[in-house]
Amino acid sequence: MKAVVYRGPKNVAVEEVPDATIQAPTDVVIRVTTTNICGSDLHMYEGRTPVEEGKVLGHENMGVVQEVGSGVDRIKVGDRVSVPFNIACGTCRNCTEGWTSFCLRANPTEGMDGAAYGYANMGPYDGGQAEYLRVPWADFNLLHLPEGTEHENDFTMLSDIFPTGWHGVELSGFQVGDRVAVFGGGPVGLMAAHSAMIRGASEVFLVDKETDRLALAEKYGATPIDFSAGDPVAQILDATGGRGVDRGVEAVGYQAHDSSGEEHPELVLDNLTQVVRSTGGIGVVGVYMPADPGASSELSQEGRIPWQFGTFFTKGQSMGTGQAPVKRYNRQLRDLIVDGKANPGLITSHELGLDQAVEGYQHFDDRDEGWTKVLLHPASA
Ligand SMILES: NC(=O)c1ccc[n+]([C@@H]2O[C@H](COP(=O)([O-])OP(=O)(O)OC[C@H]3O[C@@H](n4cnc5c(N)ncnc54)[C@H](O)[C@@H]3O)[C@@H](O)[C@H]2O)c1
Ligand SMILES: [Zn+2]
Ligand SMILES: [Zn+2]
Repeated sequence: MKAVVYRGPKNVAVEEVPDATIQAPTDVVIRVTTTNICGSDLHMYEGRTPVEEGKVLGHENMGVVQEVGSGVDRIKVGDRVSVPFNIACGTCRNCTEGWTSFCLRANPTEGMDGAAYGYANMGPYDGGQAEYLRVPWADFNLLHLPEGTEHENDFTMLSDIFPTGWHGVELSGFQVGDRVAVFGGGPVGLMAAHSAMIRGASEVFLVDKETDRLALAEKYGATPIDFSAGDPVAQILDATGGRGVDRGVEAVGYQAHDSSGEEHPELVLDNLTQVVRSTGGIGVVGVYMPADPGASSELSQEGRIPWQFGTFFTKGQSMGTGQAPVKRYNRQLRDLIVDGKANPGLITSHELGLDQAVEGYQHFDDRDEGWTKVLLHPASA
């Protein structure tokens, strides 16, 4: 089969690789209909998060079941399914408590709880930027979708970014009527803004500097804040009579930068601490690393981020962090799409065949104007 393979920093290739196969009785193999490029893939693409050469990438997958293992009884050949990016066993302590993003069994990497497809340190699993994908513990992990091809571009956001944006809002302690500031207008931040609006926020601010992303935020009903036009904290305080916001969502991660492009891993955490009111909450879904050898300062190379913890404490704020447990939300979010109440596919900018993955990575990585979310359709390869 054809697949997108990591070949080194800024280098991916579409190559022939061995077919995905059933390896355990609880596996299924799906024919991938849509698989997206994610901001998280760029951490590896840029060589910042080391991953072995030859790894098949892709954790945002959906498709149609091609083959089922002998121990699978809920999922049938021909089912249309969404594949959560988390690979979870379904029976360990964290899985049974709903924290599938911290499965204790799926990832053999020392010190890492939680597994994913096609990702560094997340276990030996191939990704789905390919014609076929093996799905472990398929009865537990897969979500059924309505048959056919309707809502493909909305449903494809169910594997990661829509539940992740929703989770960022959840981690912030959001309540109906809250004012929310989302930092980062990439796909995850846009989904957080969309989620907060659906959940009844009184006002949502979205901070970025990319004008195409800010324009999409406006389409979801959020107020765009351009951080290249001035301090985003001051802009939000101005707009709220000095009160700030009740909740903040971090959807940027450890490569946060200032308007000149210089990285400051503590910048967005500081901004959130300043702009969220006392006793308010912050949900961090942007990724931070235990170690980041490519970072600009020695501290952050060791994974130490010197942010304003003292102010955070003094304001009595709370913070939730981590990878999203997709399965906790994806059923309800699917139903919101079917009922026309959620429209995550709106951010789709490009639909490419697998053969065009190389240019997809280049443009998305350069944050080129108009390249907000790239979908690959392997069947058209
Ligand atoms: N927790 C999870 O489960 C999970 C899942 C998916 C992605 N992620 C992470 O979420 C983050 C965002 O993902 P994405 O796909 O949207 O990535 P992305 O790289 O497309 O978006 C990040 C955005 O942040 C903006 N940004 C940079 N510095 C900023 C600043 N100082 N203030 C405001 N905005 C700033 C950039 O302009 C960019 O638009 C990444 O770190 C990704 O790895 C986490
Ligand atoms: Zn993703
Ligand atoms: Zn588990």
